[in-house]
Amino acid sequence: MTRIGIILGSTRPNRNGEQVAGWVHDAASRRTDAEFELIDLRDHPLPHLDEPLGAMHGHDQHAHTRAWAARIASFDGFVMVTPEYNRSTSGVLKNALDYLYVTDAVAEVFGESVRRHVSVYIVGVPAGRSGVGGEVDPPPAG
Ligand SMILES: Cc1cc2nc3c(=O)[nH]c(=O)nc-3n(C[C@H](O)[C@H](O)[C@H](O)COP(=O)(O)O)c2cc1C
Repeated sequence: MTRIGIILGSTRPNRNGEQVAGWVHDAASRRTDAEFELIDLRDHPLPHLDEPLGAMHGHDQHAHTRAWAARIASFDGFVMVTPEYNRSTSGVLKNALDYLYVTDAVAEVFGESVRRHVSVYIVGVPAGRSGVGGEVDPPPAG
C-alpha cells in the first residue's frame, strides 16, 4: 500500500506544529487507500550536516544519517508540516532534508536513477496574519 510520511518540521518546546501535524494525520488516516505515519524530527536529532559527501554519492558515514535515510526511504510521498521562521522553513527541517536532498543539477549529471520521485505536500504553521509563504519584500526604492 502507498505510504505517506507526515514530517513534523518543528522541534521547539510548545510548538504548534504538533497539533497541526496531529490534525493532518487524523484527517488523512480516514482514507483507506494509503497508510499515514507521523515523522517527528525530535525522534531524529541530526547534527548540522556532518557527512563528508552528499547523499547522492551513497557513502553515508554516520549511523544517524543511515537511520534517517532508511526511515524516509520507506515512504512513497510526504506531507511536510513546516513552521514559518523568518519567512522560511525551520532550520531543523532544512537540515534534515539536506541529508537527503538531490538537486535537479545533480540528477542531470548522475542520471535520474539517483533521484526518487516522490510527491510532497506542504502545510504551513504561521502564528497569525503575517504568514507569507514565499512572498518577498520589494527592494527599497532608489
Ligand atoms: C524564530 C521565529 C521566527 C518566526 N518567523 C515568522 C515569520 O516570518 N512569519 C510568520 O508568519 N510567523 C513567524 N513566526 C511565528 C511562527 O510561525 C509560529 O510561532 C508558529 O507557531 C511556528 O510553528 P511551531 O509552533 O510549530 O514552531 C516565527 C516564530 C519564531 C519562533
